[in-house]
Amino acid sequence: SVTSATPSGASNASTLQRLPGAIIIGVRKGGTRALLEMLNLHPNVEVAKTEIHYFNQDENFRKGLDWYRAQMPITLPGQLTVEKTPGYFTAPPAPRRIWATNPAVKLLLIVRDPAERLVSDYTQVLHNRIQQNKPYQPLEEMLLSNGHINTKYKALLRSFYYQHLARWLELFPREQIHIVDGEALIRNPFPELQKAEKFLELPPRIKTDNFYFNVTKGFYCMMSAGHDKCLDESKGRPHAPLSNEAFQKLCRYLRVPNQIFFKMVGQRFDWC
Ligand code: A3P
Repeated sequence: SVTSATPSGASNASTLQRLPGAIIIGVRKGGTRALLEMLNLHPNVEVAKTEIHYFNQDENFRKGLDWYRAQMPITLPGQLTVEKTPGYFTAPPAPRRIWATNPAVKLLLIVRDPAERLVSDYTQVLHNRIQQNKPYQPLEEMLLSNGHINTKYKALLRSFYYQHLARWLELFPREQIHIVDGEALIRNPFPELQKAEKFLELPPRIKTDNFYFNVTKGFYCMMSAGHDKCLDESKGRPHAPLSNEAFQKLCRYLRVPNQIFFKMVGQRFDWC
């Protein structure tokens, strides 16, 4: 570290960009942005504002660790840096790259009913394609072929949580991965944040008053130092339509993968 004599503290030795002590690795559309912003309510936490995509994208990984560190927020000693990139969870090289960088890093995985997640994933892709004037297919056409689940559909593959988690558990002990219940975070964020604070070994500073239910948004928003903040309109938007029959097919298809995941994490979730 570099020592500086500036009394302002702007480039003080103690204020530096540091590698993350905790990473939100996924799941895509699980509530990763909500979790990051809510952790940021803690005075000892600073977060990278955008997704970094360092461990999952070769062109970024090649830029090296100094580039990665330069993407991080400025922190004081004792503050925890957190970044989130949901693409890490499903990227085959991510676990070993993260392990090689910091085997002690704390991992957070926010999960959500994988069937709902798939619909949300499709909705995001659809939205992006419409914005870019690209053609798109209805969800049902992507999900089913000849009335059967299309097992090659990417958004479905991302919903097989146990397959992806298995790669992480080859390297990281189970205790180093904290699972956040995405549906519980939507219903009532505070208890999930308390558990996350504990896992991150942070003193309890996030309070119930940091959250209020915003009727217009239909979700909890955050309140801190007199400022309120809701997530943007891309979070919690209406889902693309899918027939009940197709959704039930999807649920049946995911039943076994879900059971395997519950066993793997030692925790059950109220999924379809
Ligand atoms: P939907 O848009 O499908 O409802 P991610 O940030 O990983 O992309 O996850 C987006 C999801 O976060 C949203 O999915 C939404 O349900 C969920 N979410 C959880 N808490 C939220 C909150 N307080 N405000 C808005 N969205 C929230």
